[in-house]
Amino acid sequence: MTETYFSARDEVMLFEQAFRQRVPVMLTGPTGCGKTRLVEHMGLLLGRPVVTISCHDDLTSSDLVGRFMVTGGDVVWTDGPLTWAVKAGAICYLDEVVEARHDSLAVLHSLTDHRRTLYLDRAGEVVRAPAEFMLVCSYNPAYRSSLKELKPSFRQRFATLSMNYLPPDREAEVVVAETGVALPVAQRLVRCAVAIRTAQEAFHFEPPSTRVLVTAAQLIVSGAMKLAAADACILAPLSTDGAISDGLREIAAACLAGADI
Ligand SMILES: Nc1ncnc2c1ncn2[C@@H]1O[C@H](COP(=O)(O)OP(=O)(O)O)[C@@H](O)[C@H]1O
Ligand SMILES: [Mg+2]
Repeated sequence: MTETYFSARDEVMLFEQAFRQRVPVMLTGPTGCGKTRLVEHMGLLLGRPVVTISCHDDLTSSDLVGRFMVTGGDVVWTDGPLTWAVKAGAICYLDEVVEARHDSLAVLHSLTDHRRTLYLDRAGEVVRAPAEFMLVCSYNPAYRSSLKELKPSFRQRFATLSMNYLPPDREAEVVVAETGVALPVAQRLVRCAVAIRTAQEAFHFEPPSTRVLVTAAQLIVSGAMKLAAADACILAPLSTDGAISDGLREIAAACLAGADI
């Protein structure tokens, strides 16, 4: 299945230029705004496989580069996903890189500068990245937990493409393309999200993403009532505070009104 990526501005061109110049890329932007979709799209466009690694705070450098494992009485070195990606000349995508511990990320340093080399100290192996290898990381800067920040020195190793939700017309096109929902319904869902995104600055929750609009539209396409779908997919995940939810429901009802609910 080929999934389309709707670009916001020049990010596809910049990504490709970074690939050609062997510059690692950092994608920033809110959850569900299209970061993963862009990387998948670029993999297809550039003809490179994409190896995705979801970062979390238990991730060790061995999880990235590999380890010795016992198989049938023998102890053999097994490449981790990062090593595999370097050897294959793949696009290695470290999703939510801010979740990983700094010491686990240190192994990336020699890959992100002129050396473009991975040192597998335990295996005694030095792997030079082929020209096609590319490192891409992503994180959501708005989701701040005081303990978790990327070091500025780490960030400066990358060209940063900052992403955001698409402009409303484009976002509605995405919802239609992803689900086949009628354009006026997609436009109302987007209007609802834009209103909540604008209102949410006073609150402290993640604003509704393009992803939740796509999910709501999927339910609508399969017969759900529009307000029920918006409630389940857009509103309910935002907040568990009853008063806030009531306020949001009013916003949603106003935005969806007329879409023959
Ligand atoms: N620019 C876009 N083009 C196409 N689909 C998009 C775009 N942005 C968001 N989407 C839709 O939203 C969903 C979530 O996007 P994703 O790339 O997974 O977000 P992120 O990785 O930023 O959390 C996608 O599966 C797709 O349906
Ligand atoms: Mg993602």
